[in-house]
Amino acid sequence: MSLDSIPRVKGRVPGLGHVPRLLHDPLGVLRSLHAEGPVLRIDIGTMPVILVTTPDTVNEVLVKKGRSFRKGRLFDRIRPLVGNGLGNSEGAQHIRNRRLIQPMFYKERLEGYASVMSGRAQALADSWSDGQVIDANQVMGNYAIETLAATLFSADIGRPAVESVREDLPVILKDMLRRALAPKALDGLPIWRAFDRSAARMRSVIDDVITTTRASNPEGRTDLLSLLLSARDDTGAGLTDVEVRDELATMLFAGTETTASTLAWALYHIGRRPDVEEELLAEIDKAIGDRPVTFADVPRLPGITRVLDEAIRLHGVVTLMRRTIEPVTIGGYEIPADTEVLISLYALHRRPELYPDPDRFDPDRWLPEQVAARPRDHVVPFGAGNRKCIGDKFSWLEATITLATILPRWRLRSVPGSKPPTEATSSMAHPTRMPMVIHQRQKH
Ligand code: HEM
Repeated sequence: MSLDSIPRVKGRVPGLGHVPRLLHDPLGVLRSLHAEGPVLRIDIGTMPVILVTTPDTVNEVLVKKGRSFRKGRLFDRIRPLVGNGLGNSEGAQHIRNRRLIQPMFYKERLEGYASVMSGRAQALADSWSDGQVIDANQVMGNYAIETLAATLFSADIGRPAVESVREDLPVILKDMLRRALAPKALDGLPIWRAFDRSAARMRSVIDDVITTTRASNPEGRTDLLSLLLSARDDTGAGLTDVEVRDELATMLFAGTETTASTLAWALYHIGRRPDVEEELLAEIDKAIGDRPVTFADVPRLPGITRVLDEAIRLHGVVTLMRRTIEPVTIGGYEIPADTEVLISLYALHRRPELYPDPDRFDPDRWLPEQVAARPRDHVVPFGAGNRKCIGDKFSWLEATITLATILPRWRLRSVPGSKPPTEATSSMAHPTRMPMVIHQRQKH
């Protein structure tokens, strides 16, 4: 079995493969793929990597034939750096811990987190002043870290952890992908010192909170850490302190930049579409008025959901990674064992036959009749199958509460004359800088 029958993406340079094209414009490469075929081969130097970008082939890899895959090379590398939480673990450990942790994201729990989120969103709205200029990406980054930390740790115990996470997490997230992609032989380089220091400090701070929380009788408390410490499997066994630490760190890695970037892009697009903004304001006014936003309000804000769905379609997780553990047929092509496979959500979500004029921001694409006209599995911003995001509802809850709290009080616009934000890629297509000016609305 060989990969030679799979069409190669255009623009390969002998010896270097597609690296020059990818370095020059990675998102441009992904955008162009729809014209080239459902299963493609791209060469990273001399290493072949298979790329899938259509609803059917993405579903085959993530769901239908998901058992033929593991997470792959990058995760093998990330594991020793950031631990073995749900995002990295495999096999029996993943199944057991996923079962233990899943109930922490059930509706009853989300209701409790919603009141923490609503308080955080009001505090953010209270902190702004008329005419202030912010970098929306940075502000949302800090906000998402503090909000997640506030739901993870109980307020009294978690304060020092929140402070440390706010400092160290951005350093880790900034370099995690580069650090994992760099060869192991370069691990000792001084350029990784800041990363290693921040990763070690975050581990030790989380360890301290775990010790204090365990000692303070966590049964009956509802912050995520207390729930993790109280969780028991069928045999009555719980998670070890190291497992709890890895799961907390994973949630911080997986749940902050993603939510922050979605919020920042949503604010940016709303600022450029006063018609959409008007609709949202009317919706919020009708559903909520002036009181704080609650869990029960969220289903009554479908316009906000559409804006978030469209922001994540355009600027979501760029690619997921897998490796075959046995020979498998995808899109009619045979792929041997031990092949790296990239699932490009960015390419899938910008296919012009699914989303005409795909680069345009248009929340109406998420009206029920438009959604029904597209094939199943056309949109998977949170992945699919057994590795699907555990925090999907959590993040949409947080983002909806945040927008519904901020928008009626503040009008945000890009700073006149500022360059449009460019998309940088880490895990998300997140904005580089997003200068926005804030104005108080008349009503308040
Ligand atoms: C807009 C926000 C978010 C986006 C776009 C997002 C996206 C994703 C995606 C695409 C995956 C699948 C990865 C794969 O298949 O390789 C994933 C997994 C995961 N996410 Fe999220 N996520 C978000 C928010 C969150 C939040 C808020 C949390 C936690 C509080 C979280 C925790 C996780 C975890 C633990 C996994 C691993 C699940 C597993 O493998 O069992 N995510 N996320």
